[in-house]
Amino acid sequence: MKTDIVDTPTPIDHLKAISSWVSSVQDLDKLLHLIIESATNVVRAEAASLLLMDTKTNTLYFKVATGTKGKEVKEFRVKLGEGIAGHVAQTGQALLIADAQQDSRWMRTISDRIDFETRSMACVPLKINDRTIGVVQVINKQDDSRFSQADMDVLEEFSNLAALAIGSARSLEQVRQENQDLKKKLGEKHQIIGKSLILDKVLKDAQKLSRTKTTALIQGESGTGKELVARLIHRESPRRDKPLVVLNCAALPEPLLESELFGHEKGAFTGATSRKIGKFEAAHEGSLFLDEIGEMAPGIQAKLLRVLQEGVFYRVGGNTPITVDVRVLSATNKDLKKEVEEGNFREDLFYRLNVVQLDTPPLRERLEDVPFLVNHFLEVFKKETGLLNLTVSQDAMDKMTHYEWPGNIRELRNAIERAVVMGDGKTILPEDLPISASLPKFAGLRVGLTLDEALNEFKKEFILLNLQHTGGNRSKAAKIMDIQRTYLSRLITRYGMRDLA
Ligand SMILES: Nc1ncnc2c1ncn2[C@@H]1O[C@H](COP(=O)(O)OP(=O)(O)O)[C@@H](O)[C@H]1O
Ligand SMILES: [Mg+2]
Repeated sequence: MKTDIVDTPTPIDHLKAISSWVSSVQDLDKLLHLIIESATNVVRAEAASLLLMDTKTNTLYFKVATGTKGKEVKEFRVKLGEGIAGHVAQTGQALLIADAQQDSRWMRTISDRIDFETRSMACVPLKINDRTIGVVQVINKQDDSRFSQADMDVLEEFSNLAALAIGSARSLEQVRQENQDLKKKLGEKHQIIGKSLILDKVLKDAQKLSRTKTTALIQGESGTGKELVARLIHRESPRRDKPLVVLNCAALPEPLLESELFGHEKGAFTGATSRKIGKFEAAHEGSLFLDEIGEMAPGIQAKLLRVLQEGVFYRVGGNTPITVDVRVLSATNKDLKKEVEEGNFREDLFYRLNVVQLDTPPLRERLEDVPFLVNHFLEVFKKETGLLNLTVSQDAMDKMTHYEWPGNIRELRNAIERAVVMGDGKTILPEDLPISASLPKFAGLRVGLTLDEALNEFKKEFILLNLQHTGGNRSKAAKIMDIQRTYLSRLITRYGMRDLA
């Protein structure tokens, strides 16, 4: 019989206990332990435990166990339907046992093995959305009396609390997992492929830049991966968990662009029916990527400059200064320096944006990356279409590595997508690709030709080059070469180039 006097906890003690729960919501094990310990104290039990169901084996395991034998009891598992806990877990109904020794449902094995005398018990189910996921039980009153209905009610409340904690933790874990999967997928989608030295240099510079808050301008032809580089810088930066906000400056007329960037107050202009947060605010503590910055109107250029200089701006129609911490990245396919010289872009803004400049190289300067890119995009489209056995023929690969790719990687990606869709589903052949083959430079030249024959070889190659450049458009090619279209057509026939062009 127990004789030691335990002080009844005061309301302050309970409040203190609860406040420590609040701070441990991130740590489920600790929280459950606190809940069960409090339950033990409140109903003045000798021991308590929380058992959870392992649905694979249909057994209950001890998640938390208090009391003198708490550690030992954790070694055991209880089969569903066996003993008091197994019974409650199976039926979902609470049980109040005055004297376990007299109850046929009680299983003495565990008590005997750990040498713990079980007398009175109360056991309630642990439910999430009406589904029993485990039980909470208390054993032996400290004063050797029996558990009452009032104790059961208290226990039920604690059990609900524990269920709530477990439910939240599981949802949180699910969200975390989903978030991780999505980030992984996004990372894959935005992976930068290529092993050429020239690309490697850009990536190394981007890595270095990511550690700082330095403003960077990414310059390069369309389709060379400027946005990918911006994403890389953000992803590798300490800001990675905050948003990367992207805004295309060419897509919107001036007034709209201004309110997109800085937001507006309700009633700032007709149609401003509510306050709107701008991209700068949305990117707070993260990064803002301003694409096609070369297209920005002069009025907005001035406003952007002020934000970059002072870190402060106003929403359109507002007079409260707003301070944000944003890392600005921008991109252009124009020669921005030239735009400055021609008076189209503010020089002071140019220097603000261009603290560091990264140049994304065109694909024709890194043709050695073509096979890697081809395989990468092939994998992407294989997954998308389910054509898992699709391969690229050597001829098709050769054709792609010899082509000059005026539209850069975007064009390459589109070419492969088209070939996947239009091909036979097994092997991508040269004719599936919407590009025309480049011949090696002056392939037909050799000793033994007359000058006329050699000139014809040159003309043939030159015409091909121009036709490739215009995607096979004869009118455009003729215009570039400054000859008549009809004359071009005659040359194509004469040189038997119909199949190539
Ligand atoms: N090095 C690369 N590796 C993989 N994909 C790339 C690479 N560079 C560009 N791409 C792809 O090419 C397309 C154009 O890239 P993007 O970053 O939008 O170019 P830009 O902004 O310079 O026009 C996108 O589909 C992008 O995923
Ligand atoms: Mg782009």
